[in-house]
Amino acid sequence: MALLRFLSSLLLVIATAAPLASATNSEGEALYAFRIRLSDPSNVLQSWDPTLVNPCTWFHVSCDNQNHVIRLDLGNSSISGSIVPELGRLKHLQYLELYRNNIYGEIPKELGNLKNLVSLDLFENKLEGHIPKSLAKLKKLKFLRLNNNKLTGTIPRELNTLKNLKVFDVSNNNLCGTIPIDGPFAAFSPQSFANNSKINGPEI
Ligand SMILES: *[C@@H]1O[C@H](CO)[C@@H](O)[C@H](O)[C@H]1NC(C)=O
Ligand SMILES: *[C@@H]1O[C@H](CO)[C@@H](O)[C@H](O)[C@H]1NC(C)=O
Repeated sequence: MALLRFLSSLLLVIATAAPLASATNSEGEALYAFRIRLSDPSNVLQSWDPTLVNPCTWFHVSCDNQNHVIRLDLGNSSISGSIVPELGRLKHLQYLELYRNNIYGEIPKELGNLKNLVSLDLFENKLEGHIPKSLAKLKKLKFLRLNNNKLTGTIPRELNTLKNLKVFDVSNNNLCGTIPIDGPFAAFSPQSFANNSKINGPEI
């Protein structure tokens, strides 16, 4: 009887401690902080269970063999909401794909902390505010597509230090100012900058 009582109290302790012990890691927490701010009418985030040990089994999340998140693929997913600064904690992230949704608000400057990012695709959303100059810290960036949003301000000159940039598109926004002709920007066609009411021709 005493043993039974001991066993049942032990079970109770385990059951109470379990959610804590298996709580998702810091990368999962960052993703979950994003998830709780999103509206998800198509239930694409249904598998995002914060009690799992890491987010590597969540749909639209990919990890490397060390269980670090390297991709977030949520393009064309009918999600709406804003991008949370916590996403800047995904230090191993290489692909942030949030294109063709209803994402609004500003691009958090914290995305400049994603030092391993190769691709930042935020095109065809409702983003507003300025392009953060912190994005110039993303030295591995090859694809930066911010087109078809409602971004304002100038293209930060600092972005012209992104030597690996292969594809750059800020067309169809409300940007102003001039296009630097030095550095990688010189290689991009005028279409990359098209349909911004106030962008002047290349700087001479
Ligand atoms: C976007 O997703 C919808 C269904 O969710 C699909 O029918 C459509 O083909 C997708 N569009 C693109 C361009 O991938
Ligand atoms: C600019 O806007 C026009 C009219 O909406 C559109 O037809 C054209 O494709 C746009 N250009 C680019 C490069 O997106």
